Amino acid sequence: MRIGILASGTGTILQALLDADLPIVSVIVDRPCAATERAERAGVPVEIVERDSFGADFDRLGYTHKVVDALERHDVDLVAMAGFGTILDKPIHDRFPRQIVNTHPALLPSFKGWHAVDDALAAGVKITGVTVHYATLEVDDGPIIAQEAVPVLDDDTVETLHERIKTVERRLYPEVLQRLVRDESEKS
Ligand code: GRF
Repeated sequence: MRIGILASGTGTILQALLDADLPIVSVIVDRPCAATERAERAGVPVEIVERDSFGADFDRLGYTHKVVDALERHDVDLVAMAGFGTILDKPIHDRFPRQIVNTHPALLPSFKGWHAVDDALAAGVKITGVTVHYATLEVDDGPIIAQEAVPVLDDDTVETLHERIKTVERRLYPEVLQRLVRDESEKS
């Protein structure tokens, strides 16, 4: 198994994966970000497939092809999304069917989308959580692999709640990927 990671942002989830003794062969980021330094420090090849636009003129299809090309250059067979900030189009799902895994900071199918933590807080739920799932073209919708509940406390802010959720993600996500790697090696 050769894992390629798609990351953006602070990269704390990426760091948990890098620390977990997984067969990570490449990290791909969509913008200059802290995730880049984390990959470099771990000695994992990192590529910036930089987005040229965050506006309406963004060529999502063309961009997706560039990401697929980068994953193919590293001979990746499992893609793990770790806070990647760009929604990718059909070609990546065609090329990696049921081979893309994502972690989402809520109990899907509740609170899909970028603002899952804000939305859970605004809804006043007392329990939210983490979902590790296969990614499909429909965002935050693929088959669920693992879930864990996280309590919402009365004085939570988006930041405190997200940090409590991420503490669980940093344990659960590597565990799930380790299991997938193990299952795959037992098959062969
Ligand atoms: C995580 O909560 C992940 O589920 C979400 O983005 C966050 C990434 O966190 N999609 P970090 O930047 O790795 O700390």
